[in-house]
Amino acid sequence: MSEKKYSCKLVLLGDSAVGKSCLVTRFTKGEFFEFQEPTIGAAFLTAEVGLDDGTSVKFELWDTAGQERYRSLAPMYYRGATAAIVAYDITNADSFNGAKAWVAELQCRGGSDCLIVLVGNKSDLEYSRNVDETLVSTYVASSEISHIKTSAKTGENVSELFRLIAKKVPKDQSSGRGCPELTCVHPSQTRPRTCC
Ligand code: GTP
Ligand code: MG
Repeated sequence: MSEKKYSCKLVLLGDSAVGKSCLVTRFTKGEFFEFQEPTIGAAFLTAEVGLDDGTSVKFELWDTAGQERYRSLAPMYYRGATAAIVAYDITNADSFNGAKAWVAELQCRGGSDCLIVLVGNKSDLEYSRNVDETLVSTYVASSEISHIKTSAKTGENVSELFRLIAKKVPKDQSSGRGCPELTCVHPSQTRPRTCC
């Protein structure tokens, strides 16, 4: 029996040091490094998730650099993305503001069908939380995006995050959007943008 495979361009965005690279490393290699080097430019990786319905999604992961000096490169990576992980560090309130700015930019300039998942990383440091959970819930509800808490350190919710995305990304090619079956070229985002 041949299973259907879809490819999905997934971009990770968020301020520096929120743990984007660690999330990718935990998911792809099952490892965690306390002294992870900041990303330069962006890193590209692939990973596959099998779903219960027999289909699988091959992620083309673009792990972007959060440092301010690389910010202007981000559109190159989120353009045409089917899904985006926007991460913040639950111990760092500024990084939550940064994440909100990334969500706004994606909703404005990314593809109109781009699935956005907000990720509160470093849940192992709950005792040092600096981002109000009620504020997060209100923001998530008003922005109509998904939200999940993860820890790249302990692995909490990391595979769940990628499974959630694999399940949610549209696989509807007839409408000219979503994840194409492998062997096809990823469709460009062509819908008109209405803001900015
Ligand atoms: P840039 O590449 O500069 O954008 O940063 P980044 O978002 O990729 O962050 P990175 O993955 O490099 O992690 C930054 C620091 O946070 C590293 O020292 C990690 O060890 C630490 N870190 C990442 N995830 C977690 C986590 O879930 N828990 C804890 N306690 N530390 C984490
Ligand atoms: Mg990084």
